[in-house]
Amino acid sequence: MHKDVEKILVTEEQINSAVKRIADSVNRDLNGEPLLVVAILKGSTPFAMDLIKKLTMPVELDFMQVSSYGKSTSSSGFINLKKDLEQDITGKNVLIVEDIIDSGNTLFKIKKLLEHRDAKSVRICTMLDKPSRRVVDVSVDYVGYEIPDEFAVGYGLDYDELYRNLPYIGVLKKSAYQK
Ligand code: IMP
Ligand code: MG
Repeated sequence: MHKDVEKILVTEEQINSAVKRIADSVNRDLNGEPLLVVAILKGSTPFAMDLIKKLTMPVELDFMQVSSYGKSTSSSGFINLKKDLEQDITGKNVLIVEDIIDSGNTLFKIKKLLEHRDAKSVRICTMLDKPSRRVVDVSVDYVGYEIPDEFAVGYGLDYDELYRNLPYIGVLKKSAYQK
């Protein structure tokens, strides 16, 4: 285990089984129809890259990046679009891939933005969900794991841009925040 990690919340094996479970559901629900996978930069990239390898329909991949103003361990309601999609999504089935849903602000804004572009369908999947922190209601179609109200790092999730490369999801020691 990394020296800054206090405990593991989701092991590598549990991540792999969630990826498989979600991919199976998406394959079943889309029933062979083409899918545009939209990975939300940067945190969702390990999850999105694992997921697309298990999808069986024709898949396109694109990216969006948003940033929220405010403190580093929670998002505010103000979402700034830093990078938009490179294509028109009219008539397409879209799957938004997120690392974690916390207050719900980020996914709420992204979903609204895409719905106004006349996609055929917009689905959301997230590896982690912290339901106890929800501020705005946003319906998520596929969830890897629900976790308690703790700040998670690893498998794409960062603290101050670090720890995204951990193959599991864990909680940092207090000393790691003081650096
Ligand atoms: P929301 O807008 O509050 O739902 O937050 C979503 C975004 O905040 C995620 O995409 C993450 O970038 C970040 N975030 C929320 N909780 C955590 C966490 O526990 N660890 C790392 N990043 C988090
Ligand atoms: Mg993120």
